[in-house]
Amino acid sequence: MTKKVFVQTFGCQMNVADSSEMLDALALRGAQETADIDDADVILVNTCTVREHAEHKAVSYLGRLEKWKAARSGRVIIFAGCAAQRLGEKLKKSYQFLDIVAGAKGIENFGGVLDESGLFGTERGGDIIKKSAVTDFVTVMRGCDFKCSYCIVPSVRGPVKCLPPQEILARVKTLAERGVKEIVLLGQTVNAYKYETTDFADLLEAAAAVPGVLRVRFMSPHPLYMTPKLIEVIKNNPKIAKHVHLPAQSGSDKILKDMKRGYDGKMLLDTINALKAAGILVSTDIIIGYPGETEEDFNDTLKLVDAARFSFAYCFKFSPRAGTCAALKNAVSDKDVVKRLDILLNKVKGYAAAAYDRAVGTKQEVLVETPYKGRASGNLWVKFPAKQASGNIVTVLIKKSDGTLLYSE
Ligand code: 5AD
Ligand code: SF4
Repeated sequence: MTKKVFVQTFGCQMNVADSSEMLDALALRGAQETADIDDADVILVNTCTVREHAEHKAVSYLGRLEKWKAARSGRVIIFAGCAAQRLGEKLKKSYQFLDIVAGAKGIENFGGVLDESGLFGTERGGDIIKKSAVTDFVTVMRGCDFKCSYCIVPSVRGPVKCLPPQEILARVKTLAERGVKEIVLLGQTVNAYKYETTDFADLLEAAAAVPGVLRVRFMSPHPLYMTPKLIEVIKNNPKIAKHVHLPAQSGSDKILKDMKRGYDGKMLLDTINALKAAGILVSTDIIIGYPGETEEDFNDTLKLVDAARFSFAYCFKFSPRAGTCAALKNAVSDKDVVKRLDILLNKVKGYAAAAYDRAVGTKQEVLVETPYKGRASGNLWVKFPAKQASGNIVTVLIKKSDGTLLYSE
């Protein structure tokens, strides 16, 4: 009998792409996806551990599955991803109803793990043909070779492994043939991609040249690899989105050095300015309350935000992660962190609204995602007055902004 799989994904876009790959491996073993957990025989939980909160969410979700499993015999629970990598064996002891642990490092061998478990058929089914979304993700590199002092990713995902360009482009072609219009190239430090003589700028251009692909984005680059060549390619290739999500983390030289980010505030701002001069919108990630962050350091971060005027920023409270060197240092008081976060969020919101407001009166190329909404090249949301066909790019004049949404004619 065909097993039905319910997939629950937590965390970043990398996990979304990994879930899709794991689902393909399950499909090859005769399983099929279902959107109804009560109907499912198998649940695949793909987890995140980047901050403590994410890990708690994953583990508490797992705890709630005991009842689900008991409700019907033969049900299977697969706990996968980054939290599984970190906690795996320990969890198997305390949650005995857990069947399979598949850590993020072993994703290439997920099929082997399924076969070893003996819980899946050996009859070969097909590749899962998902209903084609407008946007889909393609992993180009796994792991990370940086050792940022706060970050648990290198320990749960391992060192960098870049996939061969032929394999990546074949995947892009398959997705485009299924009707996907926008491809997001993924990697922990995606622009550090290098395979023989192919660098990330080459790969980006090659992906954009695949027939049927209307737009290419990427996540997440590291500022150190934001080369002039890459900026030129983004600027000049009409199929590459004019938006870069560039994690800054802090604006303080002292904190950046302690974080081992490899750049200081000036280098970072130079890169941001080069991107903006090329007509590219820049968004970012910022960590607040990193150990040792003083009022002065925080003010340097605010100064960076003022100078960069990010189109968007994710702001995180520092979360100590076991095994990282920042976790051993003295924490900033919660009161200060909350206060700083509040100030930062207000500022960030103001610049995000300004990015929307600046687009009023301009013409934008918008990829239609739902009948009345789409995303402009710079990743701003646009609402249409009349129905549009999903998956098309329409050129529209922006009439109005409410600070979070643009309205077209
Ligand atoms: N605490 C808070 N934020 C973190 N990030 C990574 N590790 C931590 C941590 N320990 C943030 C960074 C990164 C984003 C994906 O998550 O800003 O860019
Ligand atoms: Fe973590 Fe730094 Fe690697 Fe990003 S570059 S995944 S923050 S270690």
